[in-house]
Amino acid sequence: MRKQKKIVVFSGAGISAESGLDTFRDSGGLWANHNVEDVATPNAWIKNKNLVLDFYNKRRKHAFNAKPNIAHHCIASLEDSFEVQIITQNIDKLHERSGSSNVLHLHGEIDMVKSTGTNKIYKHGNKDVLNGDLCPDGHQLRPHVVWFGEDVPNMNKAMSIISSADVLIITGTSLNVFPASNIIFYAPKMSVKYLIDPSNVRIKDIDNLIVYKEKASVGIPKIVDKLLTGNL
Ligand code: APR
Repeated sequence: MRKQKKIVVFSGAGISAESGLDTFRDSGGLWANHNVEDVATPNAWIKNKNLVLDFYNKRRKHAFNAKPNIAHHCIASLEDSFEVQIITQNIDKLHERSGSSNVLHLHGEIDMVKSTGTNKIYKHGNKDVLNGDLCPDGHQLRPHVVWFGEDVPNMNKAMSIISSADVLIITGTSLNVFPASNIIFYAPKMSVKYLIDPSNVRIKDIDNLIVYKEKASVGIPKIVDKLLTGNL
C-alpha cells in the first residue's frame, strides 16, 4: 500500500477570521483594543487577575459561539486521503469542531484551564473562570493559554511533526510571534509549501513556496482540490 503523503497545516488567527473571531494584528484586532501587557503576560496576572480572566472569558464566549468556516472544513476533508497534522497558534477549537483529528495547539486551548500551583491542566468547557475558582489542590485556576514570555511546551513536538511534511500549508498567521513562527523552517527543503493570506506576509529563505494572496475561504478550497486531484 502506497505510504500516504503527509500534509501539515500551520494556522493562525486569520483562519478563524471568517468565523467572526478577531485576529491580533489586523486593524481593529485584539491588540488594537487591548494592551498585551495588561491581559496576556504573567505580570498582567499578578497586577490584575480579574482583567486577565475577563479578557479570556469574553474570548471563550466568542470562540464557543463561532462556527468552523469552509477553510476548516476543507482541511478536515484532507484526512480521507492523506496523513494530516494541524499545528495551530489558535486557542479556539474550530479545527476540531470541523472534524480534524490531529490538532496540536502551541499557544493553549480556550476550553481548558491550568492550576497556578501545580500547572496541571483540566477540561473546563465554556464556563467563565473567576477569581476564587480553585483546582482540587486548592490553587487558583487560570486559562490554559501561553502568555508572552512563557515557554511554548509543544514546540519540540511541532518541530518533529513538521520535519517529515511532504506538504506544508501556512495560513492565517502574520508569522510575527517566535518561537512558533520559526517552525516553518523545519519543513523539509523539498516539501511543497503553500502560504494563504490576503496580506503581504514575507517569508525569506524558504524553498518551494507557492503564495495564494487570498482569504483562507478562497485559497484553501483551491489547494485542497489540487491535492485531492493528485497535483501535490
Ligand atoms: N484568511 C486568511 N488569513 C487572514 C484572513 C483570512 N480571512 N484575515 C486575516 N488574515 C491574516 C492576516 O493578514 C495576518 O497575516 O491572518 C494573519 C493574522 O495575524 P495575527 O493577527 O498576528 O495572528 P497570529 O499570527 O495568529 O498571531 C500569533 O500572536 O498574540 C499572539 O498568541 C497570539 O497566537 C497568537 C500569536
